[in-house]
Amino acid sequence: MKKKYVKTGRNELCPCGSGKKYKKCCYGKKDSLFIDIGQEYYRKYKIKIKNKVDIEGIRKAGKLVVNTLNLVEKSIKPNMTTDEINSMVHNFTIENKAIPAPLNYRGFPKSVCTSVNEVICHGIPGKRILKDGDIINVDVTTILNNYYADANKTFFVGTPDADAEKIVLTARKALEKGMAMVCPENTVGDIGWAIQNYVEAQGYSVVTEFVGHGVGIDFHEPPQIAHFGRKKEGVVLVPGMVFTIEPMINAGKKDLVILDDKWTAVTKDRLLSAQFEQTVLVTEKGYESLTPF
Ligand code: MF3
Ligand code: CO
Ligand code: CO
Repeated sequence: MKKKYVKTGRNELCPCGSGKKYKKCCYGKKDSLFIDIGQEYYRKYKIKIKNKVDIEGIRKAGKLVVNTLNLVEKSIKPNMTTDEINSMVHNFTIENKAIPAPLNYRGFPKSVCTSVNEVICHGIPGKRILKDGDIINVDVTTILNNYYADANKTFFVGTPDADAEKIVLTARKALEKGMAMVCPENTVGDIGWAIQNYVEAQGYSVVTEFVGHGVGIDFHEPPQIAHFGRKKEGVVLVPGMVFTIEPMINAGKKDLVILDDKWTAVTKDRLLSAQFEQTVLVTEKGYESLTPF
């Protein structure tokens, strides 16, 4: 099914934002169809469709995010504190001429989120000591040359028990089920449906208060990418969209509580929660992860 996109008139302002007339700027250039979709998506949804330069910028930021996660993965061991992970991420990011996006973001006090066991997301690094058998999600968002990429992984500390192993593997698979739905003409609802359908069949619940998001020019852009939903509902995906998919799944109920620090989200029943996240580009054929792991 082909969708029709509104065309920009030759004498109208160029939708690329140059301030010039369309005919004096991008008109007739190779990716002008991209720009027409971009204009429609920005007008309707405030979604910023990315061009080739943007995509290369986000891809570079994404490589740094993955390198950062790999560095953390190698170092995680029992008896270390979450503060040590924060220092590692902060220093590595700065050494690579980049900025840790979480630091001072809406008052967040650290450079990375570290979410242990019952913490669903937005855990603040501190004095908590990791112990053998814990699981810890490390969520890295990096700004490199003004472009953002965002990814996270849940790691085992020492040797996991069977419950920990199962929820972490299921969270990773849930992200893959969502990514597999990403192609032009599928919808945001198809992604959420695939994740929810899989996770609930494994006996886990999907967190509904936090969602994936457009990313790249800013930390959190439209659209929201819910990890639940119905097939064929929501925004139709088009090439050049860049967003995260980041399902949080709970061993027990989906309900959460925010702690007094105003950030840390924990499961209300204090059972385990796990998450994986990648930044994904919609391509003509399907998708490309810009933070592949
Ligand atoms: N990286 C998180 C996300 O996946 C957001 C963290 S916001 C912060 O969207 F302030 F806690 F860092
Ligand atoms: Co995110
Ligand atoms: Co993130």
